[in-house]
Amino acid sequence: MAHVAVTGGAGFIGSNLVSALAKKGHHITIVDDLSTGLASNVDPNIAEFHHISLVDPIPLALALENAEVIFHLGARGSVPRSLKNPVATHEVNATGTLNVLEIARRTGAHVFFSSSSSVYGRNGALPKDERMWMAPMTPYAASKLSAESYMQAYGSAYEVPITLLRFFNVFGPRQRPDHEYAAVIPKWIWKAMQGEPIEVYGDGSQSRDFTYIQTVLSVCLDAMERKVTHEGAINLAFGNRITLIETIDMLRKHFPDLRVNFLPVRAGDVKESQNNPVLLKELFPTVIPTDFEIALGETVDWLKEYGQSVANGPSVSD
Ligand SMILES: NC(=O)c1ccc[n+]([C@@H]2O[C@H](COP(=O)([O-])OP(=O)(O)OC[C@H]3O[C@@H](n4cnc5c(N)ncnc54)[C@H](O)[C@@H]3O)[C@@H](O)[C@H]2O)c1
Repeated sequence: MAHVAVTGGAGFIGSNLVSALAKKGHHITIVDDLSTGLASNVDPNIAEFHHISLVDPIPLALALENAEVIFHLGARGSVPRSLKNPVATHEVNATGTLNVLEIARRTGAHVFFSSSSSVYGRNGALPKDERMWMAPMTPYAASKLSAESYMQAYGSAYEVPITLLRFFNVFGPRQRPDHEYAAVIPKWIWKAMQGEPIEVYGDGSQSRDFTYIQTVLSVCLDAMERKVTHEGAINLAFGNRITLIETIDMLRKHFPDLRVNFLPVRAGDVKESQNNPVLLKELFPTVIPTDFEIALGETVDWLKEYGQSVANGPSVSD
């Protein structure tokens, strides 16, 4: 049993990770400012909760001081949100990560960081691998790349044990469908459940390497249990290249009357995304990803049964 801290532990990925860690009997501390995360995702019976911000180093240090492992998932997500307020995105995602690393430098905690495939930006080569050049197109991507650099620098300069995971469009239970910056899969399912048309920016030919939350959890837990560290980033996606149109066709099996509105392409949207999972498979040979269509069905079922629990959270306005 370890003492594990999860920043962003009230959010989608963080709260799922907290539940998985609790099942294994770990002692858990959550740090979250509830800006997009939900208080209802925090179970005081399984974790100690600190309602604080990553940008406040003193309370952050008090909250994280005893953690042997830190899953640093707290962040201001969303590309469009970062375009509206780049400085706030930088403060939370880059400076907030630096604050976490400063604590780990003193305590020796192993830091796992959730970066994003958006760091590749203008690099249109497919599939992506970890040796390719990066060219962020948005402040969100720049803030994640900056945080990646700090992770690597602290790994080299101070020998902080680091594991730098780049997520590619994660989806599944507990992802909020309701706010302006919600991710496409929960947003579409929720609209379909209300009988409303879904919105597609562009012609729907853009592709994503959608990754189910269960797959992300399997990698995170395996990485923690085997203390997997790596000097560079590890792309966490198994090489799916699913277009939005294909996703809509799969959703029609659950919602036969689904209607679609096509809108102009959005600024900052990457056209295609797909990982080459060679390094991922080498480092995590036992992790088997959940099939996309099965995962989509499980997400539909979850939102139908429990959607209200995540659908009326506080608004995310700036
Ligand atoms: N979901 C994806 O597809 C995806 C893809 C790439 C990277 N990521 C990264 O994975 C991590 C988790 O994302 P998620 O999808 O669960 O999003 P989420 O918004 O549900 O979770 C982020 C959590 O961080 C918290 N947070 C935000 N600002 C904070 C601050 N200043 N101090 C403390 N807590 C703060 C939020 O309240 C929220 O609970 C993030 O770092 C995100 O950038 C996610």
